[in-house]
Amino acid sequence: MADVNITRPEGTAKDWTISQNWSAYTAQDHATWDRLFERQVRLLPDRATPEFMDGLDMLRLSKAGIPDFGELSDRLMKATGWQVVAVPGLVPDAVFFDHLANRRFVAGNFIRRPDQLDYLQEPDVFHDVFGHVPLLAHPVFADYMQAYGIGGQRAAGLGAIERLSRLYWYTVEFGLVKSGDTARLYGAGIVSSFTESVFALDDPSPNRIGFDLKRLMRTKYRIDDFQQNYFVIDSFEDLLDQTLNTDFGPLYLELEREPDIEIEAILPADRVFTKGTQSYARAKVAA
Ligand code: PHE
Ligand code: CO
Repeated sequence: MADVNITRPEGTAKDWTISQNWSAYTAQDHATWDRLFERQVRLLPDRATPEFMDGLDMLRLSKAGIPDFGELSDRLMKATGWQVVAVPGLVPDAVFFDHLANRRFVAGNFIRRPDQLDYLQEPDVFHDVFGHVPLLAHPVFADYMQAYGIGGQRAAGLGAIERLSRLYWYTVEFGLVKSGDTARLYGAGIVSSFTESVFALDDPSPNRIGFDLKRLMRTKYRIDDFQQNYFVIDSFEDLLDQTLNTDFGPLYLELEREPDIEIEAILPADRVFTKGTQSYARAKVAA
């Protein structure tokens, strides 16, 4: 997902892909992957949804340096027909949607610097591969991602990309999934972040509310800090079902007549899992 006003860097193919150039990674690059990997796999077993942990296992992601996209794609292809391709950074929406619609996940090939372990703005190979790829080995989630790409192509023609991006944001990047009386993590932006993996489940600050497609598409989001609100899906099956069986055309039109919902708002119809204190976000504003 990205803005449209970027020009294709020299050396990229027409579809914006490049070679991963695996042999160019330094020992420090691989060590950065290993440190990040180790931190997350210590934290996630009790927090992430089991389908995510299964994906890590099945794809044999490990603490053995940055994975080779070719080998990773071979395993992923056998599981669900997806591939991982390298890009230098963010790509235009149309390019992104075209890759997803064809079951190709675009991953940044660079890795963050050692002083950026906890935060960086642009998605790097750790976020993209560790965060996103494990669930692509799950058949239902794999279908959801492809459907999203096709939905994106349609949304582009209808001038509704912004609405649709909210769905990506609140599911693929920052989604929680119901698990008994509590919730587990599945969003890539959370599971690839040491600090948000704790915050998203344990902190009293954010709201956690049940997934409602139309409500979600009216809700603003923030890209600069921990989320103030998380949407909790019932299951991947339900997410795929609801999104596939809803015609977004009329929905986009309806939404044009309805105001956006502020990030921290809770509405009477919401299925509230947690009513957050918003203390974290407020302290940041006051500081
Ligand atoms: N059903 C959506 C449409 O009519 C497409 C879509 C499917 C979007 C799955 C997101 C996820 O546009
Ligand atoms: Co991402």
